[in-house]
Formats: sequence, structure tokens, C-alpha cells
Amino acid sequence: MNLESYIRTVPDFPKKGISYKDITPLLQSPEALDFCIKSFTENIDANIDMVVGIESRGYFLATLLAKHFRAGFVPIRKKGKLPYKTLQESYDLEYGQDQLEIHEDAIKAGQKVLIHDDVLATGGTAQAACNLVERLGGEIVQCNFLIELSFLEGRSKLKGKSIHSLLSY
Ligand code: PRP
Ligand code: MG
Repeated sequence: MNLESYIRTVPDFPKKGISYKDITPLLQSPEALDFCIKSFTENIDANIDMVVGIESRGYFLATLLAKHFRAGFVPIRKKGKLPYKTLQESYDLEYGQDQLEIHEDAIKAGQKVLIHDDVLATGGTAQAACNLVERLGGEIVQCNFLIELSFLEGRSKLKGKSIHSLLSY
């Protein structure tokens, strides 16, 4: 399948100079969704206990992955959205910093975890997510992404992690 044909590049969104990778055409296609889930899962032999999705665009496929593995789903959310006790990690934005949070009881020590997000860009988001999972004792089996913007070298922030991205720009 030509997965790239399901990604719409929108120039100057959300602001001038940014080329936005819109995954909604992919989400609208049952065939493209099937292809993605198959590609993400066919090389994972480990039992996955929890799939972690990163707010917000990571949620779309993370729950499908959880269903595939008969695993649970755990949301990592932006600051102030989770109701119970949380752990927090800061990450860099283009200007300033933000925080991601996870519920402190979301993952038990030793559980095998898959982390999913739509895009790996600078890697700050994924790195913060990995830190949250590892602080709870989760073992990260893999981090997977639909799209990797390789020129931003996000991989360098995820040293030692298994990374699987379906499309690279
Ligand atoms: C985007 C994207 C990734 C993150 C990647 O999310 O969905 O989560 O940026 O960037 P990084 O590798 O440079 O950290 P965004 O924070 O825009 O929020 P959204 O998913 O809620 O749209
Ligand atoms: Mg995101």
C-alpha cells in the first residue's frame, strides 16, 4: 500500500512556514488503518500489557493497537487534564515548556508497554512519555509513530529504545 498517499500535507498550518502532516485521510480509510495496525504489530513478539497513547493525536491508533494486543490503554495527557494523582514530566516546545502527565497507578512495575504517537518530530514529547512510563517501572517494548520527521532528529532523544515509524520525511 502507498501509505504516503493517505497523508495530506497542508502548507502554512497552523502558521506560516509549517508544513502540516494531516492524518485524517488515513483515519478515514479502513484499508489504511488495517495496514498501519498490521505494520505496527507484525514484528512484536512480546506480550504487551499496556498501550500508552499520547494526547491527542496519539489516541486514534493507540486504542486500536491495545485491542489488537488484548492490552489495556493508558492515556498520557497534557497538564491538568487527568483527575487523579499524577506524575509529571516537562518537555520543550518551540517557545517555552509544557508538561505531560500520567496517573500514578496507570502502569505496574514490570509491565510491558508500547508507546504510540502520530508524529515523532523533535522527540521531546516521546522522551517525556518514556520517562513517565519508566518512572512507574514499565518496560518499554517499542515506541511507534505513523510519521517521523527525520530532519529534526527526534530519535537522538530516544537512545536505546526500539523505534518503529511507518513514514519518514
Ligand atoms: C504533535 C504530535 C506529537 C508531537 C511531536 O502534538 O502529535 O505528539 O507534536 O512533537 P515533538 O517530537 O517535537 O515533541 P501536539 O503537541 O501538537 O498536540 P496534539 O497531538 O494534541 O495535536
Ligand atoms: Mg501530539
